[in-house]
Amino acid sequence: MQDIANTLENQWMPFTANRDFKENPRLLARAEGMYYWDHHGRKIIDGAAGMFCVTAGHGRKEIAEATSRQLTELDYSPPFQFGHPAAFALSRRLSSILPGDINHVFFTNSGSEAVDSALKISLAYHRARGEGQRMRFVGRERAYHGVNFGGISVAGMVKNREAFGLGLPGVVHLRHTWLPEQRFSRGEPEVGAELADDLQRLVELHGAENIACCIVEPIAGSVGCIVPPKGYLKRLREICDRHGILLIFDEVITGFGRTGKAFAADSFEVLPDMITIAKGLTNGNVPMGAVAVRDHIYETIVDAAPEGSVELFHGYTYSGCPVASAAGLAALDIYDKEDLFARAARMSPSFLDMVFALRELSIVTDIRGYGLLAGFDLAPDKSPGMRGYEVLQRLFEAGMIAKLTGDVVLLSPPLIVEESHIDEMDGKLRKVLNSF
Ligand SMILES: Cc1ncc(COP(=O)(O)O)c(C=O)c1O
Repeated sequence: MQDIANTLENQWMPFTANRDFKENPRLLARAEGMYYWDHHGRKIIDGAAGMFCVTAGHGRKEIAEATSRQLTELDYSPPFQFGHPAAFALSRRLSSILPGDINHVFFTNSGSEAVDSALKISLAYHRARGEGQRMRFVGRERAYHGVNFGGISVAGMVKNREAFGLGLPGVVHLRHTWLPEQRFSRGEPEVGAELADDLQRLVELHGAENIACCIVEPIAGSVGCIVPPKGYLKRLREICDRHGILLIFDEVITGFGRTGKAFAADSFEVLPDMITIAKGLTNGNVPMGAVAVRDHIYETIVDAAPEGSVELFHGYTYSGCPVASAAGLAALDIYDKEDLFARAARMSPSFLDMVFALRELSIVTDIRGYGLLAGFDLAPDKSPGMRGYEVLQRLFEAGMIAKLTGDVVLLSPPLIVEESHIDEMDGKLRKVLNSF
């Protein structure tokens, strides 16, 4: 570990200030429960569940053992025209916790792939119904849907798009759902449901018969935890129903208990046509994502193909691969045994009390939160994002990891978080925020 500084050059790090990092690296060496240890042996509390994914906390032996067993028994199985028991078992388990008749699961390796797969499935669905002209996608400003071309096209974070050309043709966007009147709203804001009517306006502008789907994060996560206004998602659902538009919830962050229920669709009582998942699916231990779809979507596409023919020309070398499936099954076992989704609901009030009390600090200009997910805005420094980066560094020095997006601090602790951890995060956040 002493010579680590000499080994940093060759990795081109994702979403990272590479030059700066390599001068002053933040290296994580070990993790257990709610904590990391860095390469100097310093203990660091994980306020971000890794990156929204380590739902049951770090170093879960059950997952290590299950993946090791799986690798010994069946290391790899081709996913096209062959199958293996673990992927079927995982899809069955998932269908038992997914809402409504969302019972069919298509595996990918990441949230980005799940999003692009969902967009493709929406096109294939309409084509199978004889409405192949429905090719438009509706996304939303300030959304994050991963980094593949479909995802960045429907998303709305400018930095993730500006260097990468024009994106998919025919994508249109709803306005984002944050309004100044919502400032410091805890939970669902009272105002803003009418922003869903943007979809109706897009229908009138482009024709419902040309729109395949509308994709939204139920809570916009990466951009800063923008919670939907009361009634907004229901209104979106109604407009989609009226016009035959598929509604996709991107639950890559909100899935697996983050909102206090299995999925945000349960918390907000709105059933989408598809849900994209990743992150918590394997407790973040092995890369895996999925699109889960309602029965009618699967049946429409499958039944439209000739007998004996491949129905959907889409998939990945590692779709539902054995080791990821084993990790997923072990993670779901833990969530179930420890009743972690209900635990998230129980811990949410103390967590949100702590976060919303930061309002008294002048550097904090807005706070939003729901379940065990919260975001707060920092008064910016000279240029956007610089204060956020400084906070990330100072927090790390103080022994805490949070997720920073620009000048927004995001908190999403593992669902095993206890009161003492919330106090510890409070102390470190205040120390750092008061140092400006
Ligand atoms: C809502 C949402 N969708 C998609 C993704 C992309 O997931 P991945 O980084 O696994 O590709 C993310 C990642 O943060 C996300 O938050």
